Amino acid sequence: MYAKTILEAIGNTPLIKLTLPTEATILAKLEYLNPGGSMKDRSALYMIQQAEKKGLLKPGGTIIDASSGNHGIALAMIGASKGYKVIITVSKKCSKEKYQTLQAYGAQVVVCPSTDFIEHPDSYHSQAVALLKSTPNSFMPNQYFNIENANGHYALLGPEIWRQTEGKITHFFAGTGTGGTVSGAGRYLKDQNPAIKVYGIDAATSFHATGGHPQPYKIEGIGIDFDSDVIDYETITELVNVGDTEALAMLKTLAHEHGILVGPSSGAVAAGLMQKLPTLKKDDLVVIILGDSGRAYLSKNFYSQEDGDVQVSPRITDQTVQAIL
Ligand SMILES: Cc1ncc(COP(=O)(O)O)c(C=O)c1O
Repeated sequence: MYAKTILEAIGNTPLIKLTLPTEATILAKLEYLNPGGSMKDRSALYMIQQAEKKGLLKPGGTIIDASSGNHGIALAMIGASKGYKVIITVSKKCSKEKYQTLQAYGAQVVVCPSTDFIEHPDSYHSQAVALLKSTPNSFMPNQYFNIENANGHYALLGPEIWRQTEGKITHFFAGTGTGGTVSGAGRYLKDQNPAIKVYGIDAATSFHATGGHPQPYKIEGIGIDFDSDVIDYETITELVNVGDTEALAMLKTLAHEHGILVGPSSGAVAAGLMQKLPTLKKDDLVVIILGDSGRAYLSKNFYSQEDGDVQVSPRITDQTVQAIL
């Protein structure tokens, strides 16, 4: 048995039990084990497949999109595998590792200034639209406006979680950027059992959380920048707001105490879960989405106990052993 291309390796990520101070069962879905490194592999592949079916993307075409990183990385991987040229616009907030990963897949990367509003003419979204207009035979998956983004998670992620939990899931937590993951997978789960609670994790200072007065935050990938068609507020039971400090503290806990090295949006999801932990009961079965790996953020020093240069250890003696221990 083998996969015919890398794209067949998308999905079937493991659910791992987390030991936390609750009687409920908490399962972390390790979406960073997708081949492109995040759950965005699923939605990006689905959007490309739908575009091919509808004749919007033809052989030899160019895929153009705006992405804070993972959606772009997924498109870069898919483009490389399927033979499309890929151009990705990113905001200046994008980590260096993500930027370099896009380039490593052969994609062209355009870095744009960070803007508060997506409609701003300098925003990475506006610049992707401008590129699309001037590039013949190009297609923009447009994750913020394309309902196939959420439909991809409805078709792939939702059923997988339902199957893996044998229909016993009671609570679902996912980070919310475009809203595709929480809305698509959440809607599938609620279609199976309307009693399931669906929590979208938003950045505490996002456009939505602040009622239109956003402040900068460090968590990449999440934060509702505007009310797009992709976000389905009827599916989301509650939006849970999480600040940088809580999210980054949970990052360390997951890495140091659970051996799970994830990115800041996953720290935010885990911090959102911690807010709700006192409300959970013994028979509850909770699934949280851990969207990408911490390896993409090492240069940001979120995980280390101390910053600064690497110290070279002197030759081991009884004294140095004491110092290390
Ligand atoms: C790691 C990570 N988590 C969460 C999200 C938010 O997912 P969605 O856009 O489906 O709401 C993103 C979006 O890029 C992401 O990269």
